[in-house]
Amino acid sequence: MAAAQEERFTRKKHDPAFPSHAVAYCLREAGIPASQLDHVAFYEKPLVKFERLLTTYIACAPRGLRSYMMAMPLWIGEKLWMADDLREEIPGYDGEILFGEHHESHAASAFYPSPFEEAAIITIDGVGEWATSSIGVGRGNEIELLMEQRFPHSVGLLYSAFTYFTGFKVNSGEYKVMGLAPYGQPKYVKAIKDHLVEIRDDGSVWMNMEYFTYPHGLTMTGAAFERLFDGPARQPEARLSQREMDLARSVQDVTEEVMTKMARHARRQTGLANLCLAGGVALNCVGNGRILREGIVDEMWIQPAAGDAGGALGVAMNVWHRFLGQPRSSPERAGTWTARRTTTGRTPKYADGMSGAFLGPRFSCDDIQRFVDRRGLAATQLPPAALAERVAALLADEKVIGLFQGRMEFGPRALGGRSIIGDARSPKMQSVMNLKIKFRESFRPFAPAVLRDRVADWFEMDADSPYMLLVADVRADRRLPLPPGADSLWGIDQLNIARSNIPAVTHVDYSARIQTVRRDTNPLYFDIIEQFHARTGCPVIVNTSFNVRGEPIVCTPEDAYRCFMRTDMDVLVLETFILFKDEQAAVAEDEAWKQEFVLD
Ligand SMILES: [Fe+2]
Repeated sequence: MAAAQEERFTRKKHDPAFPSHAVAYCLREAGIPASQLDHVAFYEKPLVKFERLLTTYIACAPRGLRSYMMAMPLWIGEKLWMADDLREEIPGYDGEILFGEHHESHAASAFYPSPFEEAAIITIDGVGEWATSSIGVGRGNEIELLMEQRFPHSVGLLYSAFTYFTGFKVNSGEYKVMGLAPYGQPKYVKAIKDHLVEIRDDGSVWMNMEYFTYPHGLTMTGAAFERLFDGPARQPEARLSQREMDLARSVQDVTEEVMTKMARHARRQTGLANLCLAGGVALNCVGNGRILREGIVDEMWIQPAAGDAGGALGVAMNVWHRFLGQPRSSPERAGTWTARRTTTGRTPKYADGMSGAFLGPRFSCDDIQRFVDRRGLAATQLPPAALAERVAALLADEKVIGLFQGRMEFGPRALGGRSIIGDARSPKMQSVMNLKIKFRESFRPFAPAVLRDRVADWFEMDADSPYMLLVADVRADRRLPLPPGADSLWGIDQLNIARSNIPAVTHVDYSARIQTVRRDTNPLYFDIIEQFHARTGCPVIVNTSFNVRGEPIVCTPEDAYRCFMRTDMDVLVLETFILFKDEQAAVAEDEAWKQEFVLD
């Protein structure tokens, strides 16, 4: 019914606090007080995780004393969520608190909402309690985990070690490493495989802990790592060099090898051709795309909130299906399984239980009207059909548009509910959106949103990717010849060359992180792209998250308006209301307004 991350309410990115606002929102959506909750569940077992920390410290002693001294007060003071603490945080609830296992929660979030009656399941992340990855099988309302790998052997932590070493933030900068990889050569793959990690045919890994400090240190890698990879780690924000690009490419290649081997092993072990994925590594959409492209599975489904946020959703589903024995296709759910004939006559097989990941707060037209009136904003309300047409025309005119409509997405990607959209054909869109809207110079291109029925006309893929978790190449016949001298360009300059008819969303290796769009999960978004297609012949637009650098994705109309006014966005759509920047000037000049909206 509802799911949301705390950061969206508190406006603190990756807010680690107890999710009180998110809990309150979910109860509001359900229309019940906490006293009416039957069960409350937590997505991992804190005591087992604590045991792993203690065991590891003891095994590493006397090394790690400093990290131990720093971590313990944190764990004892706030991180060690016990049943009593959790009850206290949810006033009114005095029932039992159930604890699931970390990877079981990921597995449940991967399988239960998937469109498959039965499927193999893979979970991969840094580490949960002890497990770092698992292979299992889901059938009906049952899940069984067949095997797992344990800490410290972890492809997720291997990736995080390189994230750290290349100067990005562990647990959030991993996708930047993935985006950097196409600029590099795989020149360190041999060193990684000779020294750091042994990869077996079944996708399991053995890691040489002489090179890593994460079990006992405050960092990920140590002196041996530096010797192997030509010097110390890059300092955050320092200039990127070719070494970081080669490191990124190398660890990406190694990770893809592990992911594909694991997928093959899961298929062999379960005999099932469909695959469900979750865990932080499942956000590696390049690896996911490769599993699909190599035909290792027939179909795959990836939980959009593949990271630990999705663990909450998984443990809730575990309680519902396994603890309470509820069947999977309940009558309420039946509607989401209905296939729908499209305008092209093709019948999609695809439908899942995530409602397009639109599980967060929504604001009605009345709410928006009140907001607009209260602030005295210049806004025009349009009927939905006219709105889609108008927005499509503005897109074609290279306007950058903040699109705020429907429920907020659950998971790290904006999918048309809280998105900034633009014209994918525009050669200048990439730099306009990066510099004037997101306030960053990114080496990553933006992601395309494309009509599901048209995806194969533009990309080398014909599958659903509703959550932007699959990467595929732009079709060869859409690519452009490179201008003379393009070969000698370095770094971000390479990205500024138009490589296809949709340059704003084409990476330097012609890949794209694709979102396919269907009308049933997001009608207005679909209609906008369809109208844009009718007008321009191109069914692809740019979709990026509605936020500026360092800020969580917007949640409320206030958040959206504030972000709109702080940036060079041209147009803001709030449900059926349309607001133009040049008509807002008078309001933006108002000091009181600025105080209220900027200085918090
Ligand atoms: Fe996890």
